[in-house]
Amino acid sequence: MAFIVFEGLDGSGKSTLMNRLSQILKDQKIDHEMTREPGGTELGDKLRDLILAKGPHAPTPRAELLMYEASRAQLVETWIKPRLQNGGWVLSDRFAASSLAFQAGGRNINEADVVWLNHFATTGLEPDLYILLDVTVEESKRRRKNRQDSTSVAEDRIEAEKDDFHNRVRDGFLKLAKNNPKQWFVVSAELSTEKMLELVLARMREHKWLK
Ligand code: TYD
Repeated sequence: MAFIVFEGLDGSGKSTLMNRLSQILKDQKIDHEMTREPGGTELGDKLRDLILAKGPHAPTPRAELLMYEASRAQLVETWIKPRLQNGGWVLSDRFAASSLAFQAGGRNINEADVVWLNHFATTGLEPDLYILLDVTVEESKRRRKNRQDSTSVAEDRIEAEKDDFHNRVRDGFLKLAKNNPKQWFVVSAELSTEKMLELVLARMREHKWLK
């Protein structure tokens, strides 16, 4: 059983890599399920829409943080914990570290408050491994623009933030990874998906989670 989380700036390729890892786990007959934050539950999906919508009723930074935490609390209790208790693996597109990078780093909310709220929402549940897909803000922007052009889905409220904000988020992730190398694995998101996958699988074999 392992709880693995993918983190990084938007456009870093988290979901593509997560889907590739899922295929490998399927080939090895490893029971696993995927989720994402914010969202992953009915309540979480409703909160996701409220959090990311642009317009006059946008939440304040503190309200935004509490909404991410509410989505997280619901996901942990009703979805993640039961699966881990049954011995299944869980792969998640974002988790508590995103609140540290985006709300503490990006929005300048006191880090200790975010640490406390994360602990409250997760009841202390921690991923076995955080995989950080590190990408520059320039490259992240370029990829987001390509995605918008090809899917005609407009950028959300967080994506629309200035470069300064995204630079603070990136620095926040890198700081978390640097301070906890046992829990974090950093890969350059400029690599191909297959190369990133190879590095991630090697790290997972070190933990003896995979053959
Ligand atoms: P994500 O699903 O990764 O975005 P997308 O579907 O566009 O790839 O995440 C939604 C946004 O929410 C993203 O910009 C990051 C942000 N976020 C926070 O600011 N704090 C958090 O705690 C989480 C989980 C996400």
